[in-house]
Amino acid sequence: MATAGSAVGLGNIWKFPYIAGQNGGGAFLLVYIICVILFGLPLLMTELYIGKQSGKSVYGAFRTLRKNNRWQWLSWVCMLTGLVIMGFYFVVTGWCFHYFTAAITHAYKGMDSASLLDHFHGLVSDFPTMLSYSFLAVLLTAAVLWFDVNKGIERLSKILMPLLLIMMFLMAGRVLMLDGSNIGIQFFFQADFSKLTPQVVLAALGQCFFSLSIGMGALITYGAYMPKEQDITITSVQVAFLDTLVAILAGIIIFPAVFAFGVNPAEGPELVFVVLPEILEKMSFSWLSGILFFSLLGIAAITSTISLMEVVVAFATEVSAHTRHPLNRHKSVILVSITVMVMVTACISSMTGSPSWLIIGGHTLFDWFDKLSSCVFMPLNAFAMALFVGWFLPKDGIAHQLGNQPGIKTYIADCYIQIVRFLVPLAIIAIFLNGLGLWK
Ligand code: PHE
Repeated sequence: MATAGSAVGLGNIWKFPYIAGQNGGGAFLLVYIICVILFGLPLLMTELYIGKQSGKSVYGAFRTLRKNNRWQWLSWVCMLTGLVIMGFYFVVTGWCFHYFTAAITHAYKGMDSASLLDHFHGLVSDFPTMLSYSFLAVLLTAAVLWFDVNKGIERLSKILMPLLLIMMFLMAGRVLMLDGSNIGIQFFFQADFSKLTPQVVLAALGQCFFSLSIGMGALITYGAYMPKEQDITITSVQVAFLDTLVAILAGIIIFPAVFAFGVNPAEGPELVFVVLPEILEKMSFSWLSGILFFSLLGIAAITSTISLMEVVVAFATEVSAHTRHPLNRHKSVILVSITVMVMVTACISSMTGSPSWLIIGGHTLFDWFDKLSSCVFMPLNAFAMALFVGWFLPKDGIAHQLGNQPGIKTYIADCYIQIVRFLVPLAIIAIFLNGLGLWK
């Protein structure tokens, strides 16, 4: 449940629809599903395996398994990736919080998509408001880590996650009754292969890593906490399935509405915030539905930020343990929170356009953090982890850890080894070289 809580978040409900909308809908969905099966699943297993086998979080995992420091750099890159993701993820979490308060005051009542878009642009150019909501998200996450109540959150999400799913099913049902919803369904489910470019494939790969939390060490940490008898293969299949289900459901909610309301599907990061309030207004008990949905979305976001911040906090504690100034957990939480707040402030300043040097190459820091983490850091880290397990660890331990069912155990392990040795690294390099040159 904790791993699913890390995976299911804004990546599914906010990012997936906007990336799919920008990359041609149906063709993207198809490539995305292939990526989840071909790369997502084996890499989920890889990270959980590294964590479970070593019993350590990112900093200690590689050196424990290899008994030397040669792979230590990878833990540093994972930690940096976590910081980069948090630099923009907290901004989007802040948007969710803002829409939650807007739901309470029913501020978006009666707005059409044009005024909702204006409302969103108003929010993004409002530095103090954005900063306060994002800081609130950072502080909430820090409080969970400070008071060590992850377990409580996990128990809470056991109830809330199914509730979010039910809510999304209801919203999908409502959206499908809108006039013209079939155009959106066609856009999302009919693959137009003329739209399939190397850039779309890279976007799908990056989205798959981001959505499944692969390639920054969160799953290593969760693997380390995994009970001995828990089956890595089954857990990975369940998490990948649930995560993809939520993403597809988000697409079924967003795209019919996008076309019914006359919004551009390639609108970008604002897409879901322009469409969701209008959908919620059309639900029965619209006021309550809005409050319920945005609170569930906020909680889904926080279960992801907890896993992101946990990696960096654990890292800071462990690294400093070998220095003259060891940090205890509380000091690490403070240090990491301040660092993240600085990054979030830079990100928001860049979005509001001042100072102008924070807009680099025509893109805001928000875009840079978003693209760099999904399309560069996470695939490269995952690539390195696949090589690490495929080529540098003894194979017999893997078969033992991957499954508890004798019989299929060795079969799964054999397939798995070939995939992480050859398929995953080669395919990531190919997609990377092809897609990166074409990145706009
Ligand atoms: N997978 C999370 C989401 O979909 C984001 C995340 C990425 C969380 C990496 C942890 C690590 O929202």
